Amino acid sequence: MVQRFDQKTGKFQQNYIVPVEENDEVSVMDLLEYIYQNLDDSLAFFHHAACRQAACGKCGMRINGKTGLSCKVKADCDEINLEPVNDKIVRDLVCH
Ligand code: FES
Repeated sequence: MVQRFDQKTGKFQQNYIVPVEENDEVSVMDLLEYIYQNLDDSLAFFHHAACRQAACGKCGMRINGKTGLSCKVKADCDEINLEPVNDKIVRDLVCH
């Protein structure tokens, strides 16, 4: 489940199904990129192609209720809830 927000619609929740092989080690950011490229290109999240190694700190979000970096946290459970890291939401998972 992804908590989404934009100025027109306000907050709403959206579910996506992402196929992951059992032994694949994928990050939460990998899931978000799959969604963006294959399911819904309106989903907004921070993406820093040159980082993706927990260096810039900008991909933070609430992942199953805990704050974490989406490029670092492994997607190792069947259901993942993603929320913006704070209340200063620009759109979807992107915050100031
Ligand atoms: S993309 Fe830089 S910390 Fe995640």
